[in-house]
Amino acid sequence: MTDSRLQRLKDAAPQLRLSTDAADLEHYGRDWTRRWTPAPLAIALPASLEEVQAIVRWANQEAVAVVPSGGRTGLSGGAVAANGELVLSLERMNRVLDFDSVDRTLTVQAGIPLEAVHNAAREHGLVYPVDFAARGSCSIGGNIATNAGGIRVIRYGNTREWIAGLTVVTGEGEVLRLNRGLIKNSSGYDLRQLMIGSEGTLGIVVEATLRLTDPPPPTNVMLLALPSFESLMQVFAAFRERLTLEAFEFFTDRALHHVLAHGAQKPFDEVHPFYVVTEFAVGFDAREAAAMAAFEFCMEQGLVSDGVISQSDAQAAQLWRLREGITESLAKYRPYKNDVSVRISAMPAFLAETQALLGREYPHFDVVWFGHIGDGNLHINVLKPDDTGDAEFVSQCEQVTKLLSQALEGHGGSISAEHGIGLVKKAYLLGTRSAEEVALMRGIKRVLDPNGLMNPGKLFDT
Ligand code: FAD
Ligand code: MLT
Ligand code: ZN
Repeated sequence: MTDSRLQRLKDAAPQLRLSTDAADLEHYGRDWTRRWTPAPLAIALPASLEEVQAIVRWANQEAVAVVPSGGRTGLSGGAVAANGELVLSLERMNRVLDFDSVDRTLTVQAGIPLEAVHNAAREHGLVYPVDFAARGSCSIGGNIATNAGGIRVIRYGNTREWIAGLTVVTGEGEVLRLNRGLIKNSSGYDLRQLMIGSEGTLGIVVEATLRLTDPPPPTNVMLLALPSFESLMQVFAAFRERLTLEAFEFFTDRALHHVLAHGAQKPFDEVHPFYVVTEFAVGFDAREAAAMAAFEFCMEQGLVSDGVISQSDAQAAQLWRLREGITESLAKYRPYKNDVSVRISAMPAFLAETQALLGREYPHFDVVWFGHIGDGNLHINVLKPDDTGDAEFVSQCEQVTKLLSQALEGHGGSISAEHGIGLVKKAYLLGTRSAEEVALMRGIKRVLDPNGLMNPGKLFDT
């Protein structure tokens, strides 16, 4: 540690684990976006609330920016440290602190992986229902900071719905214990909700009290093949009317192509333009009959061309792999990701407009569509062609995102449904949020982080 600032951090927190090892700077300085070159000052791996507080106080004395870091599975560049920041990794703070069977809550440290939370809840006969493919690597702190969504939002909502309490260290180093697990609390501004989705720009989430719920009734998974984009929302309406949906996800033939190339098993002999993976409760025989009725209705109407229903947990997992494997299968193409949402009622018009826009603007690119169609959330991934340079590719994609942002504005949608704004989408924030809203957000940041040291340059420029 030759940097005198780091020596003073060591003096303030003698047990703190700090690294300036080149491999660590590279590893902890980036997230899944891979667009920026990592260049952090150092990596701090605190093991306690007190150490987190000491780091933030030191950062204020030394005017060093801090990048909070969870599992770095983020897709918006929120955890990137490319400008001499201190990365504050929560990865050693990964314990379950408490389970309360009366309150049905689990209190955890922020660095715990989502999957470990699932397992801990299951040990008590309950579930934590926020779920998505990065479950093994992403952390609860990162989920809270991005208000993560995932594949079960249609039934259970976003992360925001499941946070009963938070312990945070603000940008000035104050410890706040927010909401303390209460169900009802009408005592003024809900600062807990302000922290959720703040992308590390207001402070560090150190602990969280999570609400748990009953496990769902037995479910089945169905894979449907669809002849057209237009049929998607009609199939969704038919299934939602007849069944209790746990998930309703879609992907295109291009997405299937990449997942199959990545090792998944081919579901149908024929190729179809669109697919849906849906999961629904079949606790009672009548529900199973309802699933068949929904399927038959859609076949009769020409909305669905083929379908397969899981007969076992293993088959259900196989069908889910076709959807959940998409992100991994695309990673090698360094995709430019769009993660947009509109109200479900605006979806048919938005889909038609966007399809025309992208067909016109991206005729030469491999564009892969998938997402949480039942939540009005589309993921539009543009894959980088081998013969296009990185900078040229991003610049072309940004031009189209500008047009997409205008289309979203027309439909009252959002440029980020669930991944966050981070670095990737900050140029488009004003298309989704008004100038007055952004000015208020900046004001809130000034209150909680007066020296502007918490993840500066993410979400908006400070
Ligand atoms: P990181 O990437 O480490 O950080 C994300 C942001 O949170 C950064 O701004 C960081 O500074 C901040 N942060 C992290 N920890 C803290 C903390 N303790 N306190 C304050 N700020 C903090 N996302 C979805 O919403 N839905 C999906 O379906 C989904 N599927 C995915 C599938 C794959 C295969 C992958 C790779 C990613 C997926 N994601 C999805 C994106 C990502 O997993 C989520 O955004 C997740 O919530 C990030 O968690 P993380 O711990 O990796 O956070
Ligand atoms: C998903 O729904 O699979 C994720 O949000 C990840 C992605 O968009 O790549
Ligand atoms: Zn998603």
